[in-house]
Amino acid sequence: MLWFKKKTNSLSQQSLEDRLHEIKKSALPKHVAIIMDGNGRWAKNKLLPRIAGHREGMENIRIISRFANKLGLKALTLYAFSTENWKRSKEEVSYLMKLPEEFLEQFLPELMELNMRVISIGEIGLVPDSTQQAIQNAAEVTKNNTGLILNFAFNYGSRAEMLIAMNQLVEDAKNGLLDGPVTEEIFSSKLFTAELEDPDLLIRTSGELRLSNFLLWQLAYTEFYFTETLWPEFLEEDFLMAIEDFQRRERRLGGRIGEGEDKH
Ligand code: FPP
Repeated sequence: MLWFKKKTNSLSQQSLEDRLHEIKKSALPKHVAIIMDGNGRWAKNKLLPRIAGHREGMENIRIISRFANKLGLKALTLYAFSTENWKRSKEEVSYLMKLPEEFLEQFLPELMELNMRVISIGEIGLVPDSTQQAIQNAAEVTKNNTGLILNFAFNYGSRAEMLIAMNQLVEDAKNGLLDGPVTEEIFSSKLFTAELEDPDLLIRTSGELRLSNFLLWQLAYTEFYFTETLWPEFLEEDFLMAIEDFQRRERRLGGRIGEGEDKH
């Protein structure tokens, strides 16, 4: 059985099940990353305060992560709070800071039941203690789960991540722990994402066409999918459309055209 939120013009449940069945026959992306954009506009369209959009966005995380788990994806990385988001109003920032606690308080039992594992990337040490504790506790409690890795990018910025990695490498070199040139593998191993494979598919909702300092190193060969749909309205069938689109593309990872590989 699938679960539905509120789309009234959805295809029937059966046809979504059929598409799900079809989709599983071709290669699925292993790791999908999402820039969840458009919460503010969703709220504005409904004459609600911006924070109502974030709350609805949080509810949607539940829907999409359950669906990704059901599809059998390995990892879902969600851009939940960027290092630039501190510039928003005090009220909005403090609301966003509380959402991980709220989400995990409500859904941790379900994440356990569904065998999902929570991890995070970003400068978690710089967020309020209670937010940190909620995320760390969820990571600890779910650490042996083998289903979808639900990765929250929280207080995350790609440039900051790369600088932290570089500075660690400089320290390692000073301490004689580096006995050769820095390779891509060594650099990757110093990033917050060290334990994850690079995303195969990046989705950004709400019609914006930018990366906004998200996973700049890790997205080198990733397929991009942009949709006008606002994050709170991005439901299972939208996610399926993104994956179907991904499956229609031939991924060639920099090799030669005609030999299953691409020039660029
Ligand atoms: C961008 O939309 C969205 C964010 C800055 C926050 C995303 C956060 C969530 C979806 C919920 C996080 C929940 C957990 C559990 C961590 P926007 O506000 O910039 O939208 P706009 O461009 O329409 O104004």
